[in-house]
Amino acid sequence: MSSPANWEQLCASVPAVLPSMLQCDFTDLRGEVARLEAAGITGLHLDVMDGHFVPNLTYGPPLVEALRRTTQLPLDAHLMISDPARYLSAFADAGADGLTFHIEAVPDPRPVLGQIRRLGLKAGLAINPPTPLVAIEPYLAECDLVLVMSVMPGFGGQKFDAVALEKLTRLRQIRPPGLLLEVDGGVNAETIAACGQAGADLLVVGSAIFAAADYAERIELLRQRLRGPIA
Ligand code: DX5
Ligand code: ZN
Repeated sequence: MSSPANWEQLCASVPAVLPSMLQCDFTDLRGEVARLEAAGITGLHLDVMDGHFVPNLTYGPPLVEALRRTTQLPLDAHLMISDPARYLSAFADAGADGLTFHIEAVPDPRPVLGQIRRLGLKAGLAINPPTPLVAIEPYLAECDLVLVMSVMPGFGGQKFDAVALEKLTRLRQIRPPGLLLEVDGGVNAETIAACGQAGADLLVVGSAIFAAADYAERIELLRQRLRGPIA
């Protein structure tokens, strides 16, 4: 089951790099998690795709459940699915700690946000690059996390869209206390500093970690860039 204590540790570690497990070696899930833990990672980002909301399919509750048995790290599930309400309890039972769904997927996010919180999980709302921020502004008080997409969701390895920086900058000004800001897509050693400066607390990184031979070295480089030059 999910663990509020581990989510608090994630909050205490921000700004934090969250590996997106989309591009990990699934034949060695335990080893991958162990390598990331050894590199001091404080949470994992799980990309759930349904082949309908996005043109790609990935995994669902069984993989979340397998990861839950592998690690105590908070599991931040990014639901790129058309009908999130239908699957929330399955992901909660599988051991996810946070569930983030897309504003583009639902007519009204409030019942879904409420349902996630009632399950005892952190509730997140994601927004795609073309969607204006006003679409989510009325709901910020009901969110624990806002996920600003810096690519169109569906695939790893895409180019970072700087529209995310404008949204993060504005969100930082208007966010209620405690609301976490997350950025996802094309975050790498070149783009991570701008994301941190714009206010991102959680920086999702897929290919820039999993393409590296040494995860710990790459994660340390990302953290250094995030901290910026030492004055
Ligand atoms: C995109 C996913 C991302 C993606 C990140 O649909 O939500 O989490 O895997 O991968 P990179 O860092 O390669 O863009
Ligand atoms: Zn994601």
